[in-house]
Amino acid sequence: MVVFRKAMAGGLLLSLSLTLLGWGAEGRRGKKEVSGGATVYLGQDRDIWRPLIHTAVNLSEISSIKSSFHLRTFDPEGAVFYGDTKNGEDWFVLSLKDGIPLMQISRGNSLVSVAGGPKLNDGKWHIVEVSNQDPFVILEVDGSNRMEVGMQSKETNEVLSGELRLALGGILVDQEKLIVPFEPHMDGCVRKGSWLNLSVPWEVEAEELWPCYQNVQPGSYFPGTGFAIFNTSVFPIEADGGVKTELWGDFSKMDGTIFSIKAPGQELMFALVANNNTKEVTLTFGEENICMKDTFKRLVIIFQTDSLQVLQDEDESKTTTLPTSPVSHPGYLTAWKEGRLAVGGLLGEEEDDVGSQFLTGCLEKIQVQGRDLDLDLAVKHMSISSHSCPA
Ligand SMILES: *[C@@H]1O[C@H](CO)[C@@H](O)[C@H](O)[C@H]1NC(C)=O
Ligand SMILES: *[C@@H]1O[C@H](CO)[C@@H](O)[C@H](O)[C@H]1NC(C)=O
Ligand SMILES: *[C@@H]1O[C@H](CO)[C@@H](O)[C@H](O)[C@H]1NC(C)=O
Ligand SMILES: *[C@@H]1O[C@H](CO)[C@@H](O)[C@H](O)[C@H]1NC(C)=O
Repeated sequence: MVVFRKAMAGGLLLSLSLTLLGWGAEGRRGKKEVSGGATVYLGQDRDIWRPLIHTAVNLSEISSIKSSFHLRTFDPEGAVFYGDTKNGEDWFVLSLKDGIPLMQISRGNSLVSVAGGPKLNDGKWHIVEVSNQDPFVILEVDGSNRMEVGMQSKETNEVLSGELRLALGGILVDQEKLIVPFEPHMDGCVRKGSWLNLSVPWEVEAEELWPCYQNVQPGSYFPGTGFAIFNTSVFPIEADGGVKTELWGDFSKMDGTIFSIKAPGQELMFALVANNNTKEVTLTFGEENICMKDTFKRLVIIFQTDSLQVLQDEDESKTTTLPTSPVSHPGYLTAWKEGRLAVGGLLGEEEDDVGSQFLTGCLEKIQVQGRDLDLDLAVKHMSISSHSCPA
């Protein structure tokens, strides 16, 4: 994609977009199709900007100005819906940013962005409706919260002809054309789409569409097949302040490594492992170990130069400090500054290791230094859903 992007200009854009969509010399043969009303899990693994499903129709066949669909997500940011005409010259992108709908529209020489309305990432189904009543583009959420953008085109009496392309979960223009950049991956679900009152089938950019969970709760779900890795350099760590991490979840329903930290060339510094057979959670810090009953719902771990403090729930009496006799552990700061933090698996010796002892379960929330950890920003296995767990 990065290589492509540099070459993308003018007419090249179309052919590249088509290639990316698999509409090249192969033609459309063999593509899986679904109806526009299908339930689609947008978080399915693929090239991050690439739509998951898409369709195209002749503008002459369009009789309605309205598209609507249901959206459910806990994810604050990601690509939802895309449409374009004139082979991508004029385009429309609907995404979420901070949970709020964000429209970006390019028409003629104008480019606008408008954000507003309620936060939609509350895990409830919302009805989103986009309509085009020239020169206005209108977005409505749950039948109200109307947002209107007017864009007067200088080209009057424009003859609408050619194709209209629609896509879900990605965009078909170069992301550098966006006014407001966003992180496209969306852990969310779309259903009951009604697209300009058309009944054309949509093409699927995957062998199979992953299902959406019937019910979801906030959290990151690990099915036991992979983990997520962060460079610890992304965390704001001050020299002596210590590092606070907090984890929320039902630890009695977890099995496997919850998180681990390791600096390159050093031994594993830290690991937190849940065992569903013994009903214990084991914490390993260097040479030291503690075992805890897995009945808590929140665990606070504070890393300091000479100690590690562990607090279960809000219960002061269950505070454990390691080591029992203070020794200096300067290596911890290196691990927090230059190492890697893995969520849902154990880091091995190799830089490019594939991990082991993967977690099965739902981590409702993870914070480092008081900030939510967004797994969408990690290098992560495709099986992990960053913002939702089955309920
Ligand atoms: C769109 O319309 C044009 C001209 O009316 C026609 O040649 C073309 O086959 C149509 N395309 C589709 C996808 O229906
Ligand atoms: C939608 O399509 C149906 C059947 O194709 C048609 O009967 C109906 O009038 C259309 N509605 C609008 C608003 O175009
Ligand atoms: C982590 O750092 C390594 C080496 O500095 C780099 O190659 C890699 O892309 C980084 N990963 C992330 C997720 O930032
Ligand atoms: C934990 O053990 C119970 C009983 O053996 C089992 O039903 C459940 O699926 C296990 N959970 C995980 C996350 O492994």
